[in-house]
Parts: sequence; structure tokens; C-alpha cells
Amino acid sequence: MSSDQHASEGTTEQRTEGYAEVYRRSVQDPAGFWLDAARAVDWVREPTVALDESAAPLYRWFPDGRLNTCYNALDRHVEAGHGERTALIYDSAVLGVRESFSYARLLEEVALFAGALAALGVGKGDRVLVYLPMIPQAAVAMLACARLGAVHSVVFGGFAPRELASRIDDSRPVVVVTTTGGVEPKRRIEYLPAIEEALRIAQHEPAAVVVHEREGFETTVEDARGRAGRDGQPAVDWHTWAEALEGAEPAAPAPVAATDPLYVLYTSGTTGTPKGVVRDNGGHAVALTWSMRNIYDVGPGEVMWTASDVGWVVGHSYIVYGPLLAGATTVLYEGKPVGTPDAGAFWQRVEEHRVKVLFTAPTALRAIRRADPEGELVRRHDIGSLRTLFVAGERLDPETYGWASDVLGVPVVDHWWQTETGWAICANPFGIERLPLKAGSPSVPVPGYRVEILDPLGQPLGPGEEGNIALRLPLPPGTLTTLWGDDRRYVDSYLSAFPGYYATGDSGYVDEDGYVYVMGRTDDVINVSGHRLSTGAMEQVLASHPAVAECAVIGVADPLKGQRPAGYVVLKAGVDVPEDRLRAELVALVRERIGAVADFKDVAVVEGLPKTRSGKILRKTMRQMADGEQYTVPSTIEDSSVLDALQEVLRPPRVR
Ligand code: COA
Ligand code: AMP
Repeated sequence: MSSDQHASEGTTEQRTEGYAEVYRRSVQDPAGFWLDAARAVDWVREPTVALDESAAPLYRWFPDGRLNTCYNALDRHVEAGHGERTALIYDSAVLGVRESFSYARLLEEVALFAGALAALGVGKGDRVLVYLPMIPQAAVAMLACARLGAVHSVVFGGFAPRELASRIDDSRPVVVVTTTGGVEPKRRIEYLPAIEEALRIAQHEPAAVVVHEREGFETTVEDARGRAGRDGQPAVDWHTWAEALEGAEPAAPAPVAATDPLYVLYTSGTTGTPKGVVRDNGGHAVALTWSMRNIYDVGPGEVMWTASDVGWVVGHSYIVYGPLLAGATTVLYEGKPVGTPDAGAFWQRVEEHRVKVLFTAPTALRAIRRADPEGELVRRHDIGSLRTLFVAGERLDPETYGWASDVLGVPVVDHWWQTETGWAICANPFGIERLPLKAGSPSVPVPGYRVEILDPLGQPLGPGEEGNIALRLPLPPGTLTTLWGDDRRYVDSYLSAFPGYYATGDSGYVDEDGYVYVMGRTDDVINVSGHRLSTGAMEQVLASHPAVAECAVIGVADPLKGQRPAGYVVLKAGVDVPEDRLRAELVALVRERIGAVADFKDVAVVEGLPKTRSGKILRKTMRQMADGEQYTVPSTIEDSSVLDALQEVLRPPRVR
């Protein structure tokens, strides 16, 4: 069977069914449904069993299946005669570079780099940490790991060395793959000093670092090599990408168990310690292949552009794996929605690359709208190829939804998902049936997901009643199987609050028509420009400052970024520092420890923080006050005068 037939397998039949029938089938007979969907993937050993429930509440999809994810993403399309088809278009708005990779070329580069990694000692199950910006080498490195059956862990470039170090210690990589730097619109980011510092802080020592060399950066591989083994710097081997490739033999795809891990991706949780979300090979390949056709309606040879970053789950799933598994063309865009050079950047590329489906975050649309409210730059381009704009990462506010729908003239589809799920929980499944869109809702549960709204005691709530959004177990294929090396934490963090369910950490409601509305988080996670951040992690940093007695960080509403973090600190008795200096120090400390991506720029010194009698800080009430929302003062408050005193301060000045 050709790869094109594979990629659309099972869908011709489903297209004769509407959403309601497909959904019913997925929940009434999940085993049959997913074994059927699994036929769209090429297996070394086809699975005969859908789900292993023996270790419930930990589940494993396709326990007797064997496959290679990289083979499915590349080789099989080439073997089916589509080697000349474009797999990936690298488009750098910051450098003015464009480069196309056919499936045959991408396969060649991936196989060779896999050979280079193998020569450095990377084998099945070994971890490789990838710290790369939006350049093709990021996709090459990820796919090369998949080819070897190794486990990649990609870290977003905006994170600081300490965050990198905590990921190195948790995933214990054999090799780190990086570059000399990243290019942001207003500055160049030196990666090697960050890697060196992370290696100094980390307990674990990788054997080697492979560096893709880019021009225009100060610290070179030679510099790092010269420092290795001296001044507290671990004695890792430094290689340039070119050196690593010298003498390397192309590696063949290694068959792995469907249940073997493909990657670990760290995400923010309630505490400062990030959670290593584990994705398997088989469930992931099946779910993403299914989603490409049934959610996005993108097939072989069609162009999908996901304007995100490979450091986030959206980038893993729909810049790299999803489009390639489907035999489609993906666009890897190094640039911003505005400022590189203007708010027409997206529309120019839709025209140039004939993009059928664009996927971005609402914050990017708000940034474009602010710069081009009338959509004049849209009209300068022929965006006739565009069929659908998908958005995720945060709630699509009705105003932005209305604006984007008007100026683009195509459906704007909000869909809701998480790093943990790896693909959409709720969406409008355009490949199955175009259901009516409702502003403010990511539409309906995707087949395979059983979404329920529960009260704090785990009792189901009725239509229109807001509560905890929970997913009934088992989750469908492609969702997390556990947290890296920590089944206990997985169970405690997600599966214990409501036995039999996965707790999403989001709250919301379902309307009379079964449309889900996701209203916000129930924990300390905030979403800044579609980036998921932990206020708990920021609090830990503030609390480490010698002048700070206690602190709270909340996410306040921001018209561009959705939310932004705001900190409130109480000083230790007797501390006498100028407030401006202290605030600047605290802002710098968060940037140094967590990274620029935290976007922590607001902090205020306060006399006290509102607490319950048991000592819990009333962060939700503070956030409601800051956002000008209605709030009720909890009866358990220790001293309500503290809250009154905060009225003035809850909109703190920005430190720039
Ligand atoms: N490497 C290093 N630093 C990075 C970075 C990266 N990959 N990405 C962002 N940063 C830095 C920025 O340079 C900025 O630093 P600064 O404080 O020195 O200016 C800081 O992190 C915050 O950046 P950002 O969140 O991008 O804010 P912004 O004001 O520069 O831009 C938007 C605002 C809306 C244009 C931008 O956030 C955006 O494009 N968002 C879309 C996000 C997205 O696609 N998310 C994926 C979810 S699906
Ligand atoms: P991340 O793990 O970074 O993808 O962030 C996941 C979180 O972002 C979710 O738990 C939600 O809080 C939020 N989120 C993502 N997509 C949406 C959406 N479409 N609507 C509302 N919230 C969303």
C-alpha cells in the first residue's frame, strides 16, 4: 500500500460518517476504533491488542506492536516514490533565508545524523537533550533520535541555564545537541555560554555536546572545548555538527516497542520542578496520523504551517511529527508574527508557500491585530490557499475570533489541548464534519476523549455548570503515559484528585449542545503569550532573595499576552533597600533563573499578603482584584484589612 493510501486510510470510510457517529464509535469500541486507525501506520509488527490495562491507572497502547516513528515520518514516503515531495520548508524571517528539504534529502540528513549520534554512544532508550532554535537541525536531531529509538528532550531556547540544568539532571542525556546561537528580532542569543553554565550546575555529565555552528556568535566550539575539564567545567567532548558527521554511516531505523518512549518534554507544574511528560512511539504515531486527516484535514502533499516553536508540544506534534507522518509539507518559521519585518509576515508566507492550514496562538493574532487593525496587510497578499486557521495555547477570546474570521474570510478554529495530551482534547473536527463554530469554545470532545465536568468532590455537573474539566480514563493513544522516571508523581499530580479520571487542571463547562468552554486553570499555571509558566517557580526565585520574607506571583490579564505574571513581595523586618533597586533586582533574578520567556516585569513591595487562617495565600482573590473582577472575600480570611490595603497596589508599575 502506498504511503498516501496509508495516510488517508480509514478516513474515506469515516468521511461518510458525521462527527456524532465517529465519536460514538470511539467511545463504545475504543479498541476497535484505534486498531482500525493503527492501520494507517507502517508497523514492523502490527499490534493485535489495543490497550494494556494491567497496570491501571497506567495504560499502554498497542502493547505488542513494533515500529519506528522516523521510518513512518520519512522512509515510507520515499519508498512509496514521493522522495522529491517537499517535506520541510525552512523560512527564516530573521535571516532572510529560505530552504526546502525534499523527503529524500531530509531522510538522508536524518539517517546520517542518527549515525553520528550512534557513533557518540547513543543507543535505544538513551536520552538526547536538544537545545535548538527554529532551524532545520532541530527537526533533524529529533527525527535522528526517533530513528535510533533514542529519547529526545527538547528544551525551549528562552529558558535559562538553571532550567536547562534541571532538565539535564532529570533526563540524564548521553548527548546534548545545540547551536552557537538563536536570533531574536532585537538581539542574538548566545547558546554556548548557557550550555556551559547548565553543565556546570548540573550533577549529571553528558558524554558529548554536538554544536551546529551558525555565523555571528561570539562563543565558539573551540572556546568551549578549551574550557572543558577546567574551572569547574565538566570534561565533556565538544564536537561541531560537521565533525560529528565525519565518517558517520547512515543509520537504519531501529524497530522499537510501540510502548517505548519517543520523547520527554518538560512542562511547568505547580512547583518549580518541571514535569517530564513521556510520549510513546506507537500511540503517538497513530493519534497524530489520525488527527492530521480528521481534525486538520491535511493530507499528502498539502502544506501545514504551525507558527510555534519546536520547544513546545505544538511544535513537536505539528511542526515535526504530524505533517511528516501524513506525508504533508511542514513550514519551520524562524520569526515572529510582528516585527520581522511587519504584521504581514504570516500572510506573505501563506501566499508564498501555498499554506492550506495555519496554526498559531491567539496572542500572535492579537499582536497582528494591534499592528494592522483593518487587515490591510492581509489584503496585500493572495491567501486563497488558506482553508482554516487553527489556534491553541490559550482561550481564543471572542473579539480576536471575530476579527480574525472577518479579515481572513476563513474559519478560525480554536482547539484545546495540553503538553500532556500531545494533541487536541476538544476541536472542531473539520476533516470529519464542519460543525458550527461558537465564539469562546474550542467546540466538542475529539473522538477518544471522554470529557466531564466535576465538582470538587468529583460529582458530575450539568450543562452550563462550571467545574473541573476531567477526562475519563483510559486516555486515547498519543497522550502521556507517565512522567519521566516518576510514575508516582504522575498518579499524584493527575490521577488522584478524581479516581478514574485524568484531571486537566483546567476549569470550564459544557453547554446544552455539548460544546466545551475552557475558562482557566485551577492551579498555579499561567499562560503568557501562549507559553505555559509556573507562578510557583517564580515565587521560589523571589523567595530566594535575601530581602524577601514572603511573596506571591499571580497571572493578571494582559490585552496582548493573555496573562502576564505580577509579583508581590513582603520584606523581612529591618530591610532597608530602595524599592526601585529591589524591584529591578527581583526582575533580573527571575530572568536569570528561569529565563526571558518568563516575561516577569511587574513586582510590587507590599505590607502583607492576604491569607486564610491556615496560612494559604489567597492568590485567586488577588487575581480577581487585579483584573477588576467580582470577588467574594473568603470567610476563612485571617485579616481582611490586608486585602483592603492591597487595593491600591494590585496594579503594580512595570519595571523596564
Ligand atoms: N529564545 C530566547 N529568548 C526568547 C525566545 C527564544 N526562543 N523566545 C522569546 N524569547 C524572549 C524574547 O526575546 C523576550 O525577551 P525580552 O524580554 O528581552 O524582550 C522574552 O523572551 C519574551 O518574549 P515573547 O513572549 O516572545 O514576547 P514579545 O513581547 O517579544 O512578543 C508575541 C510577543 C505575541 C509577538 C510573541 O510572544 C509571539 O509570537 N507569541 C506566539 C507564541 C506561540 O506561538 N506560542 C506557542 C503556543 S501554540
Ligand atoms: P501547554 O501545555 O503549554 O500546551 O498549555 C496547556 C494549557 O494551556 C491548558 O491546560 C489550558 O490552560 C491552556 N490552553 C491551551 N489551549 C487552550 C484553548 N484552546 N483554550 C483555553 N485554554 C487553552
